[in-house]
Amino acid sequence: MGLQEEVQKRKTFAIISHPDAGKTTMTEKLLLQGNLIRSAGTVKGKKSGKFATSDWMEIEKQRGISVTSSVMNFEYEGFKVNILDTPGHEDFSEDTYRTLTAVDSVVMIIDATKGIEAQTIKLFKVCKMRGIPIFTFINKLDREGREPLDLLDQIEEVLNIETYPMNWPVGMGKRFLGIIDRYNHQFVKFNGNEEETYIPLDEIEQYADIAENPTFQETVEEMELLNEAGDQFSIERVLEGEQTPVFFGSALAPFGVEVFFDTFVKLAPAPGPRRTKERVISPDYPDFSGFIFKIQANMNPQHRDRIAFLRVCSGRFERGMNVQLARTGKTIRLGQTQQFVASSRDTVEEAYPGDIIGIYDPGSYRIGDTLLDGKQTFEYDELPSFPPEMFQRVTAKNVMKAKQFRKGLEQLVQEGAIQLFKTYPTDSFIIGAVGQLQYEVFQHRMKNEYNVEVMLESVGERIPRWLKKEQVDTKLFDERNLLVKDREEEFLVLFKNDFALRWFIDKHPDVELIDLFEVN
Ligand code: G4P
Repeated sequence: MGLQEEVQKRKTFAIISHPDAGKTTMTEKLLLQGNLIRSAGTVKGKKSGKFATSDWMEIEKQRGISVTSSVMNFEYEGFKVNILDTPGHEDFSEDTYRTLTAVDSVVMIIDATKGIEAQTIKLFKVCKMRGIPIFTFINKLDREGREPLDLLDQIEEVLNIETYPMNWPVGMGKRFLGIIDRYNHQFVKFNGNEEETYIPLDEIEQYADIAENPTFQETVEEMELLNEAGDQFSIERVLEGEQTPVFFGSALAPFGVEVFFDTFVKLAPAPGPRRTKERVISPDYPDFSGFIFKIQANMNPQHRDRIAFLRVCSGRFERGMNVQLARTGKTIRLGQTQQFVASSRDTVEEAYPGDIIGIYDPGSYRIGDTLLDGKQTFEYDELPSFPPEMFQRVTAKNVMKAKQFRKGLEQLVQEGAIQLFKTYPTDSFIIGAVGQLQYEVFQHRMKNEYNVEVMLESVGERIPRWLKKEQVDTKLFDERNLLVKDREEEFLVLFKNDFALRWFIDKHPDVELIDLFEVN
């Protein structure tokens, strides 16, 4: 098969949802459909205490959550599907955000009984901001939930995105009859735990129990209104991230999952071109290239290895090939490579654009690194960094361990596990994260990998604003508005809160404050 065909077969996406909306259940059903697992309960057994995918780190076991994003792949209907898992816990980390740089689309799962929930809005917004195509699955239709129109309104309002219902539920909870599949022009009948039945809409009259059911008739009327007043389906707008196709169903039953996934694999984009600092590289560019979006330590406690996750962007990857690390120009042989499935790590022999491979990291890689083959050298655009929101002062418990402390700190920062700042001019260390969990992982890894116990002292949630060097005046700042330097030696102020920030702007209108993370 040619490179172009291999590329077109790939569908690489992440499932994002609020905790408990049904991401695990959905993932499991998709893996079942892809024949990757044979029985439910393999992905995660929350209550039974069994962990399959995520028993890599002790901390995961202790908290019963998946800290790290894993990757699953399988063949489905002629497509090669790569699912990137994202931690579902409310205090996700920067890894969650970065995973989104390695996918071509996302599936957003929403609990019909709850709608969009506060903690996940940010994650959904990052997808919208980056123009990643979003497919929506509204879950738990077997329960009494919110009105479908309400749910669509909420998605449109919160995410500023058009919605297009691909199907429409007939009843809900106890009265749930099934869905009218607008896209494929059929009625999908809900049969409880039994398999669903598919009835073409123009044959529905033959099924009096459905055609004459008042709930069904009401829904048909509702749909007619929707056809007239709602947005038109536009695949172009979907691919631009301006419209989201919405599917209704129940991951648990499962119901509507097959219809959803069959349509999804057809419509979701295959890997596309990617920007480098020099030019745009298309996936069918003949030479292999890819970038590292995540580095993970200690996935296997027996080996204490580090794994770098690489997204293949062009050409063909072959195990054992020599590649160049663009940042340093060094040649590296990629001998130990892994592909990830739900319950094991297999050696990967070859990979194509869209695929994610795990490569053994002796400590040479950084987040955002480009690896490539061929005569031409280029570097993929830097991965966006995400604004840390919480900050902690960090010190070593034992001052004698200063050397290990600095080494650990440096390496973990380089890996992208945490962001580091130094107070100015006092030079104490402040670390920043997007979620509490990052601190726990940091503390755990400092102890286990560098043998240093660290003390963390919260400086609270802060608002970071960068300053121009020539405008730095130490007299203007104190504990409340803390002056620090980032890794690039740039100055920034960690403002205590919105009020402190506004007060400062009022008082010092001449000092320019730069928001590096401003959404444009
Ligand atoms: P998450 O990964 O997004 O956190 O959610 P997960 O799939 O673990 O689902 C959260 C809870 O919601 C689970 O129940 C699960 O069985 C239930 N659930 C998922 N999909 C549906 C659905 O379509 N309908 C209904 N009614 N429930 C659904 P639990 O009792 O918390 O856990 P468990 O013992 O079932 O694992």
